[in-house]
Amino acid sequence: MIKVKKRKILLLPGDGIGPEVIKEVRKIIQWFNKNKSLDFEIDEDLAGGAAYDKHGTPITDEVFYKALESEVVMLGAVGGPKWDNLEFSKKPERALLKLRKELKLFANLRPAICFKQLVSASSLKPEIVSGLDIMIVRELTGGIYFGEPRGIKPIDNGERKGINTHAYTTSEIVRVAKVAFDLAKKRSNKVTSCEKSNVMEAGQLWKEEVQVLHDKEYKEVELNHMLADNCAMQLLRNPKQFDVIVTDNLFGDMLSDQASMLTGSLGLLPSASLGSKNKNGEMRAMYEPIHGAAPDIAGKGVANPIATILSFAMALKYSLDLDKEADGLENAVQNVLDDGLRTKDILTKGTKEVSTSEMGDAIISKLK
Ligand code: IPM
Ligand code: MG
Repeated sequence: MIKVKKRKILLLPGDGIGPEVIKEVRKIIQWFNKNKSLDFEIDEDLAGGAAYDKHGTPITDEVFYKALESEVVMLGAVGGPKWDNLEFSKKPERALLKLRKELKLFANLRPAICFKQLVSASSLKPEIVSGLDIMIVRELTGGIYFGEPRGIKPIDNGERKGINTHAYTTSEIVRVAKVAFDLAKKRSNKVTSCEKSNVMEAGQLWKEEVQVLHDKEYKEVELNHMLADNCAMQLLRNPKQFDVIVTDNLFGDMLSDQASMLTGSLGLLPSASLGSKNKNGEMRAMYEPIHGAAPDIAGKGVANPIATILSFAMALKYSLDLDKEADGLENAVQNVLDDGLRTKDILTKGTKEVSTSEMGDAIISKLK
């Protein structure tokens, strides 16, 4: 197994707005190196469609090995209509899925926090979202994203059949549920586990295993089970009832996009994808905004870099043990929002529009 190299940060900007938002993170890392004497070693390479265009594959072995030996991977976004018709193994998204699967990043943390300055940017009423602070823990290396058999095959009557398999094992469920319970203990001590146990066996197993783990090791944490469709509805009806939500790969994908709109914009939500710690306490991790490549606005300098910058704050906290610096960076983001600066996606009356790089510079100017 390749060793993780401490403080090595690999930037994979990817496609669409990825390079624009990662550029702002690079500036921030350089600021920390210069002003806090942190010796982050930065490397940057291609992933996704950009890698396909140059090398004919969404991620080369060389880049994959670089990711394996980096303590932190910062990914921008991958994908775009240009590559829509490629076969599955060549699609830009495969880079992301391969990194998640082979780095064993099974726990995807997706916080949805509604900043007080942005209450009015949400499409929901202020009283529904103000003060919102939920954490979605999405299982990231199993379920229907990776289940076998899969594929498209011809069937007898001349039609074709598309097949995917939704499957979970006990250990896959237990390890991600542990992450959720441990996080809840440091928050409001409440976990909601979501599945479709009324329709799917894998959902029934999910529910049972989470309950068994709870009764064995986490009795002090409040646990509720909720069907995933009900959860989607409750997120809009009364999102503040949630603290930590733990769910599978596909439901987590959907529920986290939905939760992002409670906060005002998809451009605000960071994420951390974490593996297990080895016996030396080392952990592989990848950090990325939850938004996609947004090809429609790429190259225009209007993308919101905050989700990616907050993803780096999560890296400071979860991988690099720099909680103080993480808080400093989060505060800098808040201060800039207090000053009324906004990228286009969160622009409201009385605030000032700034570009991607102006937003990055403003955040850096608030770092202490
Ligand atoms: C996400 C994205 C990815 C996913 C895509 C780009 C493969 O939507 O990270 O939420 O489906 O997991
Ligand atoms: Mg998604």
